[in-house]
Amino acid sequence: MTIDLAVIGGSGLYAFEGLENTERQQVDTPFGAPSGDVVTGSFRGKRLAFLARHGESHTVPPHRVNYRANLWALHALGAQRVVAVNAVGGIRDDMGPRALVVPDQIIDYTHGRYTSFNDVEGAEVRHIDFSEPYTESLRQAIVAAARAEGLAIIDGGVHGVTQGPRLETRAEIARMNRDGCDLVGMTGMPEAALARELGLDFACLALVANFAAGAGDAVEISIEEIFEHLAAATANVPPILGRLLDTL
Ligand code: HPA
Repeated sequence: MTIDLAVIGGSGLYAFEGLENTERQQVDTPFGAPSGDVVTGSFRGKRLAFLARHGESHTVPPHRVNYRANLWALHALGAQRVVAVNAVGGIRDDMGPRALVVPDQIIDYTHGRYTSFNDVEGAEVRHIDFSEPYTESLRQAIVAAARAEGLAIIDGGVHGVTQGPRLETRAEIARMNRDGCDLVGMTGMPEAALARELGLDFACLALVANFAAGAGDAVEISIEEIFEHLAAATANVPPILGRLLDTL
């Protein structure tokens, strides 16, 4: 099966609106079960595969996502190109709620997650070049697609990835800011590294849900507000990816 684009949906994105002639694929992997069925279908005349990272009813927390099974499943279905949609908190002043960002770097603060397909007994140790964690051509294609849709989008930024599921303390965000992080999320890693191990083209479309703790005008972060902003930002995903598909 050819898949023109695979999309991993994050918080607030549990199904891909407008996907037609859908079929559900339950994929078994050597690493266990993915977060749910992969839904394949057509969108703007192209083949798209969609997987909800947290499950379709949001039951899988960030630290328990089976990132290896998810990436493996998309690859096994024939995907070569993956756009990961991630809900994030903004640290930089211009990355307030509802901002769209295509980050170009990552700092990984997660722990205790399986970070490699080779992290199994007896497998040969493998090191990948990860200087540029995202595929630049795919990043640029997302930025161009959003702009062609008349949407403001920020090209580049450092995506700090925390363990979750709790949000961060103000001191943690202040430290991340000093480290150079512009955004904070809980699911960007090891997803990006695993995609690289499989040789996939991979980029992230980050949707800012809130200012991170102590950043911008954040005093207290309300989960209701996060989901309200996410719903608004998520509405931009199908038009951006539709335009992206037109250019592929
Ligand atoms: N921190 C971490 N992950 C997030 C946040 C945040 O403030 N908002 C949305 N995802």
